Amino acid sequence: MNSGFLDKLIERIGRVRPEEVQSYLLRLADEKGFLETIFNAIHEGVIVTDVQGRINYLNRAACEIFGLERENCMAQPLQDRLRGLEWSKLVEAEKVVSRDMEVFYPQHRFLNFYVVPLSLDAPGTKRSKTVVQEMVGYAVILRDITETRRSTEETIQSEKLTALTLLAAGVAHEIGNPLNSLHIHLQLMDRKLRKLPQAQRADLETTLAVARDEITRLDSIVQQFLGAIRPARIEARLENVNDLVSESVAFLKPEIDDRSILVEQELRNDLPLLDVDRNQLKQAFYNVIKNAFQAMRTGGILRVRTDVDDQWVSIEFADSGGGITTEDMSKIFEPYFTTKASGSGLGLLIVRRIVREHGGEIDLASDLGKGLTLTIRLPLRNQRARMLEAGPR
Ligand SMILES: Nc1ncnc2c1ncn2[C@@H]1O[C@H](COP(=O)(O)OP(=O)(O)OP(=O)(O)O)[C@@H](O)[C@H]1O
Ligand SMILES: [Mg+2]
Repeated sequence: MNSGFLDKLIERIGRVRPEEVQSYLLRLADEKGFLETIFNAIHEGVIVTDVQGRINYLNRAACEIFGLERENCMAQPLQDRLRGLEWSKLVEAEKVVSRDMEVFYPQHRFLNFYVVPLSLDAPGTKRSKTVVQEMVGYAVILRDITETRRSTEETIQSEKLTALTLLAAGVAHEIGNPLNSLHIHLQLMDRKLRKLPQAQRADLETTLAVARDEITRLDSIVQQFLGAIRPARIEARLENVNDLVSESVAFLKPEIDDRSILVEQELRNDLPLLDVDRNQLKQAFYNVIKNAFQAMRTGGILRVRTDVDDQWVSIEFADSGGGITTEDMSKIFEPYFTTKASGSGLGLLIVRRIVREHGGEIDLASDLGKGLTLTIRLPLRNQRARMLEAGPR
């Protein structure tokens, strides 16, 4: 493109002959088309507005990011098309402003964008000594940062988890020692008790038994807690996932009866065996089922289905509880995120750790007020690397 073309044209606009006008117009149209092709090819969204914030131009990426149709947007206030965009605040400083933004429709994304005020030389001042600039509108440039943000979040989470593991290990160490000493002292008391006459012993023995039981319980809580958050080594064997699902459900039988919950198991009987750690997977299923029960309180239905395709074995847990909002959905794997009075907010974090260690994935779908469906997918083969075709020697 000849960058001086327009300047030259303007210079000799008074001398342009009528028969030349058509050729100049065609050339301008070509250049417009050329620019539009470039703008539509770039991944960043570009929106141009006039001074009042009415849309003059959107490229294809901007339309896709916000699910807009160009024809319906022209001359409309950008603020009306993108509810939640605080346009007046963005432009009040009349300088370049950069912000991040979360978009929920048509896809959940995080964006970074900046707004640039656009000014041109005021007409007629170009050749004068004092060039006057005139505001003509704004350009909004948008970048999709969903992926970068996700990986940053994952790093933060894993750092939080490391800190948590260290803290828990410290606490266990601190609690473990006095527990041990209490245990030994109770044994000593027990020995001394045996030397007392039977009448005096009976009462004290019951008290002692309660104390011993409580200490054992405390010890097992600490051990369980540590076991849950410490990255454990996978001890994989070939297992039928259906058995692990049934065993996890059976383990919760007392609670199922207590809450009058109906558990429907639809387990495919031709599942291939998977190389998995049975205890860890059962722990993951248990955490998911427990969440479902807690969400349903009494009288709900939990449907557990297993299925297989050419890549994955999937285990779907669909409950009829209250579900979850889109906002909370992005938080439920965060350490300590809980909406329960006595929840630790670690259950799903552990589920995700176990599933990832098996090379699997978790999908969530929720209908607020109607329930939540959590699907765990485990790969048929633990494929962590892929051979590429041999290149030339
Ligand atoms: N099936 C579900 N239906 C609705 N909300 C759920 C469901 N599963 C999880 N949640 C939400 O996700 C949050 C986090 O769950 P997570 O299992 O990690 O912790 P928790 O259940 O609160 O505590 P803990 O598992 O340690 O007892 C819950 O507090 C709840 O708000
Ligand atoms: Mg839980």
